This record gives sequence, structure tokens and C-alpha cells, in this order.
Amino acid sequence: GLVSAKEMLDKAYKNGYAIGHFNINNLEWTKAVLLTAEENKSPVILGVSEGANKYMAGFKVVADMVKAMIEELNITVPVALHLDHGSYEGAKKAIKAGYSSVMFDGSHYDIKENIEKTKEIVELAHSLGISVEAEVGAIGGEEDGVVGSGEVADPKECKMIADLGVDFLAAGIGNIHGKYPDNWKGLDFDVLNQVNDITGDTPLVLHGGTGIPEDMVKKAISMGVSKINVNTECQWSFARATRKYIEEGKDLIGKGFDPRKLLAPGTEAIKETVKEKMILFGSVNQA
Ligand code: G3H
Ligand code: ZN
Repeated sequence: GLVSAKEMLDKAYKNGYAIGHFNINNLEWTKAVLLTAEENKSPVILGVSEGANKYMAGFKVVADMVKAMIEELNITVPVALHLDHGSYEGAKKAIKAGYSSVMFDGSHYDIKENIEKTKEIVELAHSLGISVEAEVGAIGGEEDGVVGSGEVADPKECKMIADLGVDFLAAGIGNIHGKYPDNWKGLDFDVLNQVNDITGDTPLVLHGGTGIPEDMVKKAISMGVSKINVNTECQWSFARATRKYIEEGKDLIGKGFDPRKLLAPGTEAIKETVKEKMILFGSVNQA
């Protein structure tokens, strides 16, 4: 069944690996990520943005679909269903609908308001055994309408937020959603180190997991990053495989237009990408 993300991330933090958070968009995405986690005996976090919740007809549809799929597919590895970049209202909706984990992204508020709202969400979520991710500084770029300034986190502010009892913390360290520009300066490991030092045993979260060079990913994990968010890369894989299928005219042969056939190559491609990430993050056989 669904579990909070706290235990799996504390374990990952202690043992020097990271758990992948993979954003889901529909049934195929969900199935691809769950099956890959099971096949590789890896704990996993399904991330759902508020936009994706809306697309899938609501929080409850998503929560009920994920729970039912875990049961029907006999998924035995730990799975957390996590609201990604949640607003204050969105976090409450996700908690009510049965999510096992929420991110409250108050990074666009001033630190005082971020603290107040994060504190309230932590109290509500923890009373129900639900884990909470908070954010300090901002992730650059845009994801599903959530636009971030890319401001690097202030380690002192990270400590203030971590001290509220958040289960894991996302700090902006030069990471960006979507494609990294050619002139990207790389992750700010100096700040990451400071944040890791000052926040004690709180696992850290790296957003914008698409396109970060492998050596930087490993270095970040060695400095306390225990959850890595990947979204765009699965979308690229899905789109590329779907395009190939259609360009080869396979949708026009036999029953190739049947959505179950049409969406299969993309679904397989997501599985490949998720598996590569699980190997890179070190979460294989940790379930
Ligand atoms: O919250 C989700 C992630 O930060 C995804 O970032 O699309 O660059 O992989 P990405
Ligand atoms: Zn993100």
C-alpha cells in the first residue's frame, strides 16, 4: 500500500543513495513507474503537480487510481504518493484525498509567511502520518505553471524551515526545471554543503533532475540529497518513442491505432528512463 515518504528517505539519507520522484500524468505513466519500481525492488515516489491533478480529474481520482493499481498489480515496494509543488490550498486537498506525502512550496512567499504556512501544513499532515516537503530559495524555470526565480537558498532560512519538523527539504542550489541552458553554471555545491550541515539529519531534495550530469548527481547524493525529482526526461522519452511509432506508420498497420498499442512504445520508454535513474540514484534493491 501507500506509505509516507519519511521512512524511505531517512533510510536513503543514512545509507547514501537517493529515491527517485517521478511525475505522473495518466494511467500509463503510473503503471510504468510502479512496474519499474517493483521490477527493480526500489522504493519510489509518484509526484503529481496540481496541474496534473486537474488533468486527471481531481486529487481523489489520482489517489484512488494509485491505491487500486498498487493492489491490482501486486506492488510490494514502498510507494509514496506525493503532491509536487503544492499550494497551501492544494496541500490540504491532497491530504484530504488520501495522498501519503505533500510538498508545500512556499518559496515564493517571504520567509516569515513561508514559515507560518509550512508550520500549519506540517501540523496537519503529521497528525495523519503524512510526510511534508518544504522549499527554500527557488528552482529556476517553469513547471506546470509554477515559475521559480532560481534564487539560491539561504542556509539560515533552510534551518528555520527544517526546524519546523519538515520531513525533507528542497533548497534552490542553481537547479532548474526542464532543459538546462548551455551556459548553466552547474549546481552550487558550496551552498548544498552548508545547507546539509546546518539542517542536521533532514534529507534534502533535488528538483530539476532532468539533464544534470551524472557526476553532479552522485556528488549531490554524497552531500545529503536523498530525493531527486524527474519529470521532463520521462516526457521526452514518451514523446520520442510515440513519434517514432507514428512516423514509422505503425498506427496505420492492422490495429496499430488502438490506444493500447499506440501508447505502448511511449510507456516502455518511460520504464527505461525510470530504470536508468533508479540505477544512477542507487535505489535498486533497497526496497
Ligand atoms: O518537481 C519536479 C521536478 O523538479 C522535475 O524537474 O522536469 O527538470 O525533471 P524536471
Ligand atoms: Zn520541482
